[in-house]
Amino acid sequence: MSDSKSVLDVTINQERKTLMVGREESLLDALRNASYFSVKSGCDTGSCGVCTVLVNGKPVKSCKTKAADVAGAEIVTLEGLGKDGELHPIQRAFIETGAIQCGYCTPAQILTVKAFLDRNPNPTEEEIRKAINNVICRCTGYVKGVAAVQRAAAYLRGETPAPYTHIEGVLPKDASQTKLPVGFYRREAEKLPLPPLVLTPAEIKPTRVVGKAESKVDGVKLAKGKPAFTADIHMDGMLYGALLTSPHANAKIKNINADKARALAGVHAVLTYKDIPRVKHASGGQSYPQPLPYDQVCLDDTVRFVGDRVAVVAAETLEIAEKALELIEVDYEVLPAVIDPEEALKPGGVMVHAEDDTEGIFDAKRNVVCHIEADYGDIDKAFKEAEHVFDGEYHTPKQQHVHLEPHVCISYLDEDDRLVLRTSTQVPFHIRRMVAPLIGLPVKKIRVIKPRIGGGFGNKQEMILEDLCAHLTMKTGRPVKMVYTRTQEFTSSRSRHAMIVRYKIGVTGDKVTAAHLRLLGDTGAYGCHALTVNMVGGFKGLTLYNPDNIRFDCDVVYTNTPPAGAYRGYGAMQCEYAIEVIMEEIAEKLGLDVVEFKRKNWLKVGDVMNLSRKLGEGREGVEQTLVTSGIEQCVEVGMLATDYRAKREQYKNQTGKIRKGIGFAIAMHGSGIADLDMASATLKMNDDGSFNLLVGATDLGTGSDTILAQIAAEEIGIPVDDIIVYSSDTDMTPFDKGAYASSTTYISGGAVLKAAKLIKQQLLEHAATMLELPDTSGLTLGDRKVTAADGRELTLTDIGLSSLHMQNQHQIIATASHTSPMSPPPTAAQFAEIEVDTETGKITVERLLMLVDCGRVINPLTAAGQVEGGMSQGLGFALTEEMLFDEKGQPLNPSLVKYHVPKAAEMPVMDTIFIQTEEPSGPYGAKSVSEIAIDGVAPALTNALHNATGAWVRELPLTPARVLAGLK
Ligand code: FES
Repeated sequence: MSDSKSVLDVTINQERKTLMVGREESLLDALRNASYFSVKSGCDTGSCGVCTVLVNGKPVKSCKTKAADVAGAEIVTLEGLGKDGELHPIQRAFIETGAIQCGYCTPAQILTVKAFLDRNPNPTEEEIRKAINNVICRCTGYVKGVAAVQRAAAYLRGETPAPYTHIEGVLPKDASQTKLPVGFYRREAEKLPLPPLVLTPAEIKPTRVVGKAESKVDGVKLAKGKPAFTADIHMDGMLYGALLTSPHANAKIKNINADKARALAGVHAVLTYKDIPRVKHASGGQSYPQPLPYDQVCLDDTVRFVGDRVAVVAAETLEIAEKALELIEVDYEVLPAVIDPEEALKPGGVMVHAEDDTEGIFDAKRNVVCHIEADYGDIDKAFKEAEHVFDGEYHTPKQQHVHLEPHVCISYLDEDDRLVLRTSTQVPFHIRRMVAPLIGLPVKKIRVIKPRIGGGFGNKQEMILEDLCAHLTMKTGRPVKMVYTRTQEFTSSRSRHAMIVRYKIGVTGDKVTAAHLRLLGDTGAYGCHALTVNMVGGFKGLTLYNPDNIRFDCDVVYTNTPPAGAYRGYGAMQCEYAIEVIMEEIAEKLGLDVVEFKRKNWLKVGDVMNLSRKLGEGREGVEQTLVTSGIEQCVEVGMLATDYRAKREQYKNQTGKIRKGIGFAIAMHGSGIADLDMASATLKMNDDGSFNLLVGATDLGTGSDTILAQIAAEEIGIPVDDIIVYSSDTDMTPFDKGAYASSTTYISGGAVLKAAKLIKQQLLEHAATMLELPDTSGLTLGDRKVTAADGRELTLTDIGLSSLHMQNQHQIIATASHTSPMSPPPTAAQFAEIEVDTETGKITVERLLMLVDCGRVINPLTAAGQVEGGMSQGLGFALTEEMLFDEKGQPLNPSLVKYHVPKAAEMPVMDTIFIQTEEPSGPYGAKSVSEIAIDGVAPALTNALHNATGAWVRELPLTPARVLAGLK
C-alpha cells in the first residue's frame, strides 16, 4: 500500500529511474507496474524463468527478487535491447529461426541468451542448452531456440549465416528409394537439430507463398516484448480479483460468512453462492448446443475437488483481495471423496453429483457422467472365428497443460455500458455466448477481445475466469483483473483425462478381424469435455486399423479431482498409445514383422472409416472415407532415416546395465469436426493495395495468423507483408468456432481461401472497369498487379485508390464462411531411440523423429514448430508428467518444482520430416498439424523400451519405478 512504499533508484535500459516500491514488492511487480510489460509472470516461485531480467548483466528471476534489493543496479528488460527501433541480432535470430511460438517465454529467453553470448560468443550446443535451461518453453521443444542462439552467435561474431529455412526433397513413388540429406541418418552421435525436411511427390505443383518458411506475422512484436498479452495494460480504477478455493475434495458448505471480508478497507465486492443466480451450465467451450451435462454453476454450496470455487473478491490491490479471502469464514461439512475412477463406478459409494438439478448425467449413483456404445459388423462372431484373441490393459495419466501464461481475464464496462472481456481464450465467440446467461446480459451487450495468448493447448478452450470476472465487474461497475497462480493452474483449471484403455483384438493370419475397446475415462469433478474427448478417443483408437468388426464401450466417470478438459491429443493420443503398443505385442507373440503387420492392417486410402457415422464428436457423425494418406511413406522414410530394421535386430537380447532400443508408432488425427465446425474470414482492401484480414480464428502461438495470411497472399498474388492480420474480437471479426480440434488451417484456412477468391474476382472486375474492358477475360492477377492481354498493367495501389476514391466507388471487401462435411486425418509415423539404465530404470531419449503427412505444408517452419512442441509435450506425458493425489484428494505435486516438464538440457534430438500429400478438400491441399504431433511419442517409447529390455510396461508415465517393476 502506498504508505509503506519507498523510493527505489535504479537504471532501467540505460535510463535513470525512480520507482516507488513496497517493502516486500518483487522486482517483477515493480517493473510491470512501471509498464515494462515484456517482463512476464508465470509461476511466482522462480521455477519457470519467464520473469528473467538482467541485473548488472546477470539473468535474475525477478519474481524471487525484492525490488528494494536492487537499488542502484543496472537493469535490462527486453524493451531495452534493440537500438533506435532496430532489432538486436538475438531478436532477429529468434524470428528468423521460428524460435517464437506464443512468445510468452521469449523476453526471458532472449535476455538469458544475451548474457550468455556476452560471456561465450562461440558456444557448443550443450552449453546453449544449459544456458537456456532455466527458462521453460512449453511450445517449441527448444529445437528452434537452440538454432536461434547459434544464429545469433554467428551474427554477433560478425558472420552472415545462410537464411534459415527448411530442406526440400523429392519423394519418389517408391519411398524406400528416398535420398535423405546427410544427417538424417545420424549414424554418428552428433546432436545438432536439423531444419525440417519437406519431401514432395513430383506431381504436386509449386506455389509462391504457400509452402515457404515465412516469418510469423506477429514475430517482431513478440521479439520486442511489446504489450500484446491480456495482462499488458493498466486501466484506471482497475480492481484485482481473487478466488477462494476449496481445501476439501468433497464437502457441503453449511455456512459461509463474508462480513469481515466485506468490511476490510479496499474491498469492493465479495461474492459467494448466496449472491449470484444458480444457472446450470457446462464450462467447456464448444459449439451450440453444448453437450450435456450442465453440472456447474458459477459458485455452488457444494465443493467437489480441492481447488473448486468457493468465493471471489474484488479489491483495490491483490494483497487486499488475498487478505479478504482469509477473512471469509466457511463452515464445511466434509464428506468422503472418491479419487479412483474404478472405485467411483461401484454402486453405493460416494456420489460426486448428488444434486437434483443437473441435466444429463447418465447414472449419477455410479458417477457415470456419460456412457458411449458403438458397434460395427458382428463382433461376437468375429471373436469366435478369430485364430487368436489378445487382451491388453493400459493406463494413461492426468497431465497438466502448463501453458506459461496463466489464465487471465480483464473485464470492464465500456462507454456504452457494454461488458468487455479482454481474455486469454481459445474460443472468444463461445465465451461470449456462454457468459451471457450467467450474468443475465444478452449476447449483444458483451464483447470479447482475444489479445496474444501465451499458450493454451486446450486449457483455454474453457470458461475458467471469464464468468467470475464478469460478475465482479457487474457488481462493482469497475474494471477487474483476475489471474490464476501456477498452483491454481494445477488445482483449479483443467487437465488431460486419465484413462484406462482395454483392448481385445482378434487376429486371423496377419489380419486384425475384430477390435473391442473398453474405455474408462476420468473426467474429475465436472463433465466439461467428458463426452467428446472420450468419443474421439474411441473413434481414433478404433479407426487407425479399422477392422471389419468393432465394438466401443465407454464409461466416463466423475471423481473428486480437478476437472479434465480439452488437451492437445483429445482422447485420441491415449487410445492410439494403447493400440500401438498392443499391436506390437501381438506381432511379437505371433512372430510377425511388426511393420508388415501394421502395414497390412492400417487404414488405407479409399477405406470408409467404419465408425465415422456412429461416433461424431458428441453426436452422430457423417460417413467419411480416407482420401489422402502418407502413412506408407512416413513409415518407409522413417525406417530409412533411423536405420530401424538393423538397429532393431542389433538391440535384441542385450545384456548389461545400459541398453539401447528403437521403437515406432503410427498415428492419425483429424482436421476440425466434420459438419459442425464453422469459420469465417473478411478481407478488406486499403488505398495502397494492402489488405486487412479479419479472422475470428484464434492464434494461441501456433502461427495460425501467419499461415492464414499466406493462404490469402497466395490467392491474391501479393506478399504476406501486404496482409495485416487481426484476430480476434467478437465486435470486429467474423465468427469462428475458435482454436481447437485441429481445425484452424483446414476450416479457418478454407474460409480465408474462399474470401480471397471473392476478392480476386472483385479486383479483376474493377480492373476491367478501369481499363474499359467488357469483362475480366484475359486479365491476370499476380505480383501485386493486374495485367491485361494487351500488356497494360494496373498495380493494386491503382485499384485501391480508384475503387475507394475515383471510379465506381466502393469498398473491395469479401467475407466468406466455411464448413466441411469431412475431417481428413493427417497421418504420421513416430520413431524413438532410447537408452535404458536397467539398474535405475531411467530412460534417456536420444532421438525423436516424426514424419508427418499434414497434406500440403503451408509453412514448414511454423508446422515444424508444432511438431517439435507436440513431441516435447508427448515426451513429458510418456516419461514424467502425472498429476498425483493422496487418498483424500489432496494434490501432491501442484507446482513446477514437483511436476516435471521437459527442459532444454534434457531434450533429445528432435527431427521432423514432412511427407507432403495434397488433400483435395483442404486449402491448397492442407490438412491439420498441431495435435497429431503429440500422438505417437508414448507408444514409440514404450516399444523402444521393449526392444531394449524385453519388458512391457503398460502404464504411463514410464517412471524409473515402473520400468524397474517391468524389468522384474
Ligand atoms: Fe515459449 Fe510459448 S514460445 S512458452
